[in-house]
Amino acid sequence: NILIIDFGSQVTQLIARRVREAGVYCEIVPFQLADEAYERLKPKAVILSGSPASVHDDNAPLAPQKVFEADIPVLGICYGQQVTAHQLGGKVEGGHHREFGRARITIHKESPLFEGVWEVGKDYPVWMSHGDRVTELPEGFEVIATSPNAPLAIAVNEKRRYYTTQFHPEVVHTPDGAKLLSNFVHKIAGLKSDWSMAAYREQAIQAIRDQVGPEGRVICALSGGVDSSVAALLINEAIGDRLSCILVDHGLMRMGEAQQVVEMFTEHYNLDLKCIDASDEFIAALEGESDPEIKRKTIGRMFIEVFEREAKALAEQGKDAQFLAQGTLYPDVIESVSFTGGPSVTIKSHHNVGGLPERMNMQLVEPLRELFKDEVRLLGKELGLPDSFIGRHPFPGPGLAIRCPGGISREKLEILRQADAIYLDEIRKAGLYDEIWQAFAVLLPVQTVGVMGDGRTYEFVCALRAVTSVDGMTADFYHYDMNFLGNAATRIINEVRGINRVVYDVTSKPPGTIEWE
Ligand code: XMP
Repeated sequence: NILIIDFGSQVTQLIARRVREAGVYCEIVPFQLADEAYERLKPKAVILSGSPASVHDDNAPLAPQKVFEADIPVLGICYGQQVTAHQLGGKVEGGHHREFGRARITIHKESPLFEGVWEVGKDYPVWMSHGDRVTELPEGFEVIATSPNAPLAIAVNEKRRYYTTQFHPEVVHTPDGAKLLSNFVHKIAGLKSDWSMAAYREQAIQAIRDQVGPEGRVICALSGGVDSSVAALLINEAIGDRLSCILVDHGLMRMGEAQQVVEMFTEHYNLDLKCIDASDEFIAALEGESDPEIKRKTIGRMFIEVFEREAKALAEQGKDAQFLAQGTLYPDVIESVSFTGGPSVTIKSHHNVGGLPERMNMQLVEPLRELFKDEVRLLGKELGLPDSFIGRHPFPGPGLAIRCPGGISREKLEILRQADAIYLDEIRKAGLYDEIWQAFAVLLPVQTVGVMGDGRTYEFVCALRAVTSVDGMTADFYHYDMNFLGNAATRIINEVRGINRVVYDVTSKPPGTIEWE
């Protein structure tokens, strides 16, 4: 196994991800807990992460000195390089402005770190981090790769198996980085690929049992999305019927969705799931509201109210939970933590990250906190969730409310639901569903004139959206064949009363966002 000591870089989790991809078990611990974790894990190798800190700061984060006293390989990335140099008697100079960027490094000498990947005398792209700089290497170290701006791109002490990089091998912008990390764990640390999602499942289940204890009860808001579903299934495996799930049907779901979710979880998984039809309350609270942020906040507030009420009802039946389950993923964790401390602008308030935990005063159980979306899908597969479910497009917490710009009514939601169902049906039939990252219909608060049969119509416009993306942070609009769009539009206009015009959204993100509100 491998211990990753986290000094607060935004991308530490990517290191873990690459190590997992190489089939090796690893744990990330914050540097303050590294000593204890080191004793507990007795790792075969240690990786030191990057950091926004400087070794010159007061109380600069350090690695336990024992890491360097044991005879194990160490990989120091960025700040990890500086800390290694600093702790082994080298010198680090501060004061440079921190910046990240693409760079090319030239290889001067062979090393097992890039054996089979990089060749001496050639240069390769990496994602560099300039900040503080090592100016004097500790004894026994030599520089084996450089770039014009990074004289210590890679510095190593092969004899002691210490490898340090000024660049970040863990990010995708260092195209060969994953191979370097794989070399570190396999060739240098000598670890075999024997770790898998099946093993992760067992560990996660054990961790839940440890956290919840033999008597504890957990409550979970199941939305039917992949994240909350996988979290609920894991917890169910860990503690069985001490988990209660609540599905709040806010009336803003897609067609038939609530029933499908209830059927699947109660029939196939025997989950203790209660579906609450709160659509009247939600729609009443949203009626006439057209401000996107107020809509989002209202839905968030209502959701908490309904959930709290149901949690109370469960407590009265003797199912009093001390723990609240959340399907928080790693990207949610980094997005909600500000490392710079500076002001960051709220583009949209995502209602499912935050709010509930603070209000409910419960401990959180977050079994997916270390995982990325595609890893959660693999875990879901491991738990037996059907492919049709795992591969589903993302769906926002506030649901169709944010796909109905302007005021909301039951009638409008119903029109949108029908158009959306037809659109998705056409996408599936054309075999495009998996190629598209997310697709949905939007009902515009605009009526236009049309002609159907011999009569004049005056009905709503429906916009179709489809994007490709990796993580939802950036996106490109999907380039459909026009015939596909024509067919989908014809079906929607013919089959949905209330829509007489269909348009396609060709905005990428940025400058647009994926949702319209
Ligand atoms: P935007 O519109 O911000 O969306 O480009 C990026 C991704 O996030 C989804 N989204 C949400 N997901 N709660 C969620 O769980 C929300 O409040 C929310 N708002 C947007 C959106 O569907 C897209 O996949």
